[in-house]
Order: sequence, then structure tokens, then C-alpha cells
Amino acid sequence: MSVKVIVVGAGLIGPRHAQSVISNPDTDLVALIDPAPSGPATASQLNTNHFPSLDALLASSSIPKPDAAIVCTPNHTHVPISRNLLANGIHVLVEKPVSDSIESGLELLRFAQLPENAHLKLLVGHHRRFNPYVYKTKQILDAGSLGSIIAVNGLWTLYKPQSYFAPPTDWRRAKSSGGVIPINFVHDVDILHHFFGPIVRIHAEKTLPQRPNPPHDAEEGAALTLRFASGIVGTFLVCDATPSPHNFETGTGENPIIPKSPTNGDSDFYRIFGSNASLSVPDMTRWSYDGKPDKSWNETLSVERYDVGDATPFDLQLAHFVEVIRGNAQPSCSGEEGLRALIVCQAARKALETGQTVDIDTDLFKNEI
Ligand SMILES: NC(=O)c1ccc[n+]([C@@H]2O[C@H](COP(=O)([O-])OP(=O)(O)OC[C@H]3O[C@@H](n4cnc5c(N)ncnc54)[C@H](O)[C@@H]3O)[C@@H](O)[C@H]2O)c1
Repeated sequence: MSVKVIVVGAGLIGPRHAQSVISNPDTDLVALIDPAPSGPATASQLNTNHFPSLDALLASSSIPKPDAAIVCTPNHTHVPISRNLLANGIHVLVEKPVSDSIESGLELLRFAQLPENAHLKLLVGHHRRFNPYVYKTKQILDAGSLGSIIAVNGLWTLYKPQSYFAPPTDWRRAKSSGGVIPINFVHDVDILHHFFGPIVRIHAEKTLPQRPNPPHDAEEGAALTLRFASGIVGTFLVCDATPSPHNFETGTGENPIIPKSPTNGDSDFYRIFGSNASLSVPDMTRWSYDGKPDKSWNETLSVERYDVGDATPFDLQLAHFVEVIRGNAQPSCSGEEGLRALIVCQAARKALETGQTVDIDTDLFKNEI
């Protein structure tokens, strides 16, 4: 039986998810929901039904009841929409970040955990877990090829044009709803968690602002230091106001609207340092003294390159969602994992604002009985 899917929100990313639903033989796109005037035209381009709201769809008898929904609306609407979907017996894949506050994210997790909702799945759309470069890196780490991991160094540096911040998506320039940390760095946090486990301490220094404030009051960038529960340490530079190839999108070419680096291999965005070897991504170069007489800086390093397959992460994420709904897999990025990434982003912002190092409690439900 095909899984009947609706896409809620048809702005930048909703139609991309809708395309994955259309191309997956196990899923049917039954409707697109968006109150914007462009909603009906977008739905008709995708050859599907349009509803201006979830309530209108739920009240309608013209389409079969959906099994699952992909929520692609602005961040502050994620929790009420996801809650409404779960309350109506619909599985949820909600775009990142899971919520716009820790409190509302926790509220959603608690709601999803109620006994009456136990059969329903809540996943968060950190689709990069399904990127072939991330998949390969995780495989290399899990195989122990680098030895014990000591440190990681990351970059997300790129230039966003003025049009990105113009209405109707001017929420991206407001501190309350936008900013490079919750919009972009949150992806890297999730990948760092996926690779190395939870981050427990963070410090941040703000980059020099390049855009006028007002109207831009969201952060543009930061230099961050990280400590993981495992003892691994990291540094990360994030900035959305500099022309640079050193970011996930340019390095991997995963986003069709951000061209891949023309100089393949010169756009490294992660360097991972282990006791036996180090690895840079996405050139997938492993440096070691393997095969040398001595493990010593006096030797010439051995260089190995890994091949990476070709796959579309949004398609793989959807296929995973279907497997989770069918009970054949556990969520790769659960609501809890999604909230952990958000908590780290909020800690990064707190560190930026206070100039203090911020400790992060990994026990999400510590105040619950
Ligand atoms: N995974 C990724 O790589 C990725 C990329 C971009 C955006 N996102 C996330 O996806 C979400 C949407 O981002 P976007 O850039 O597409 O935003 P957008 O502003 O381009 O689109 C959001 C759409 O949601 C619609 N909408 C608002 N309230 C609604 C409601 N109650 N019901 C139905 N539709 C509603 C708006 O009319 C708009 O068309 C954000 O949470 C963002 O963080 C993820």
C-alpha cells in the first residue's frame, strides 16, 4: 500500500519535498497546503490538490485521509502544525529546526510520547544525514579507520544576497525567526551530533556585521569552540556574508540553487582528526602514516581518497520516513535529536550575547517525573 503524503507549506523547500514524494513509488502526493496566493498554482504544477489550511483539508471529504505529512512552513509554526497532524493520526516529518523554542519543542515531544500517540512517528528533516558524503564519513568513523577521534574543525561560510532577506521571506533577517545559526549552523550541529554524540559546552565570538541593522538584527556569523560529551573538541566558523566555497552546499552540490564548487576538492568544510589518521570532507582525503616505517612527523604522509556515491538526500530521507512508518526502521533523526540540535543553537546564541561559555545539559527531560 502506498503511503499517502501531504506537504504543508509550499515556499522554497516544500515543492522539493513534493517532487521526492511524486518520484517515490511507495508514496502518493495527495495535497499541498499553503494559504499564500501562489499555493493553488504551485499545487497545480505538481498535479495535486490544494488546500489553504490543514483544517480545510481535514474537513474535506474530497481526498483520502493522509497517512503522513511533511511540514515545510516557517519555524514558529512547526509545533502547532505538527501537533495538529499527530492529533489527527498523521505521521510527521517536520523540517528543521523542530521548533522555534526549547519549551515548545519539549511540548511537542511530550505530546508525541502520549500513549494515544505512541503508534505515530515524529521525525525531523535533518536531511544531510542522508547525504552520500555524510554517509561515507560516518562509515569511515564507525569502522575506526581514524583511530580515536580527538578533534573536529568545521566551516559554513557563504554569501547570501539581499533577495534572500526580502519580503515575503523577511523573517530570515529577524533575530526572533532567522539568523545563520538556527537556519544553517543547525544542520552542521546535527551532523556533528550524528558523528560524535552530544555537544556539552560552547563558546562563541560574533563576526563583524556587514548588513544594516535595522532591518537586519539576526546574527551573520560566529567563531565557535565546542566540547562533546565524549571529550572530543571542535572549532567552527560560520558566516553568511562572505563569498566562499567552504560550506556543505558548495562542497557537496546537494542544493540545486547553490552551485557546486568549480574546483572540486578545494572546498573542504570538515576536517576530522584521529589518533591514527585525519580526514577532510568533501574531498574525502585520509592522511596517515599507514605503510610507513614509523608513525612520525618525519615520514611523508600516506594519502588515500574515498569515492562517494551519487544520491539525492531528500529522496533517501523520504524512503527512510516510509520505512519508519512501516515499522522497519527507527528514526535516524527523531524529535529528540532535532531538539538537541536546537538546544545547541540556542546555547550558541546565548554565548554570543553574553560572551560567556555555555554548558549544555543533555538530559532533555530532567524536570519531568
Ligand atoms: N532542509 C533544508 O535544507 C531546508 C532548506 C530550506 C528551508 N528549510 C526549512 O523549511 C521551512 C520552510 O522554509 P522555506 O525556506 O521553504 O520558507 P518559505 O517562507 O519559502 O515557505 C514557507 C511557506 O509556508 C507557508 N505557510 C505559512 N504558514 C502556513 C500554514 N499555517 N499552513 C500552511 N502553509 C503555511 C507560507 O505561505 C510559505 O509559502 C523552515 O523551517 C526552514 O528552516 C529547510
